[in-house]
Amino acid sequence: MGSTCQQKSSSCSSGTCGSADAKIAKQDMAIKTSLGKIKHKILVMSGKGGVGKSTVSTNLALGLANRGYKVGLMDVDLHGPDICRMLNLSDKLHDVKIDRNELLPPMQYGENLKVVSLEYLMEDRDDPIIWRGPLKLQAIRQFIADMNWGDLDYLIIDAPPGTGDEPLTVAQTIKDAQAIVVTTPQEVALADVRKSLNFCKHVKMKVIGMVENMSGFICPHCNKGVEIFKTGGGEKTASEFGINFLGKVPLDPRVVIGGDDGAPYLSSASDSPAVKAFADIVSNVEKEIAAAPITLKTADSGCSCGSTCNPSTCSC
Ligand SMILES: Nc1ncnc2c1ncn2[C@@H]1O[C@H](COP(=O)(O)OP(=O)(O)OP(=O)(O)O)[C@@H](O)[C@H]1O
Ligand SMILES: [Mg+2]
Ligand SMILES: [Zn+2]
Repeated sequence: MGSTCQQKSSSCSSGTCGSADAKIAKQDMAIKTSLGKIKHKILVMSGKGGVGKSTVSTNLALGLANRGYKVGLMDVDLHGPDICRMLNLSDKLHDVKIDRNELLPPMQYGENLKVVSLEYLMEDRDDPIIWRGPLKLQAIRQFIADMNWGDLDYLIIDAPPGTGDEPLTVAQTIKDAQAIVVTTPQEVALADVRKSLNFCKHVKMKVIGMVENMSGFICPHCNKGVEIFKTGGGEKTASEFGINFLGKVPLDPRVVIGGDDGAPYLSSASDSPAVKAFADIVSNVEKEIAAAPITLKTADSGCSCGSTCNPSTCSC
């Protein structure tokens, strides 16, 4: 329920202008407008840390951008944002000249990729971030509402490990987000994957498929594959859960070097097995998305219901 209007104005039709409810309604409207221009939203998640979510997100985003799509990459790993380092982006929002009434510009990587990460908004990237749930929710809502994503084909969202506040906020805020679950071949990681898949079931998020990362090892000297852990577990788990298997990416030391240098190796022109594996994953994602098209909502009136609604009362 909205409280009494503090500042009666001609633009206030609900009597709630200036109240907290009105601010949330306004932000909801901005979120809907922003999301209404983005065709496909993909949350990259995993039950376990360090399995390669950020690597997969970055390379998927770059792979799609290299194929000519307009892509956004949103880093919602608020405690350990990694995307800027992986792409060697050091822009700071403080240094950007912004009109008060305008949406904030995301960082730009090449022609087709826009990037938003908390590091971009922080003055010092080494500041520790101690946040509780509601603040995380607000930060993620602002990443969508206040940023000028523009028209995008894909928004790739890099999540922290687990099924906590961040993926939950994404699920609640972006109703048509679809998930990619990343795993490694070890049993423990696969057990964690089951949790991610159960989470998706619970929040009714469609799962595009699963990626098995660090699947075998590619010798950098001879490019031959060595099975370190047993591979294929991801494929088995995917079939157990009745979801698509998007592909396996082998462990390749050059991936780490690429990630640390801000030049993602998997998107390079090299024809190594890891680069090829990644290209296949990008193709499989394109195929899966094309198989289940989502209609883009229009936001002519600033509200994605497409009519001239009152955001305080519209349930669009
Ligand atoms: N296929 C691969 N081959 C070699 N190294 C890899 C591969 N995938 C990821 N890595 C490396 O493993 C480390 C962890 O990867 P990444 O940061 O992408 O994982 P994450 O799941 O996002 O981690 P976190 O849970 O901390 O967010 C990084 O140093 C990355 O470069
Ligand atoms: Mg990560
Ligand atoms: Zn070798």
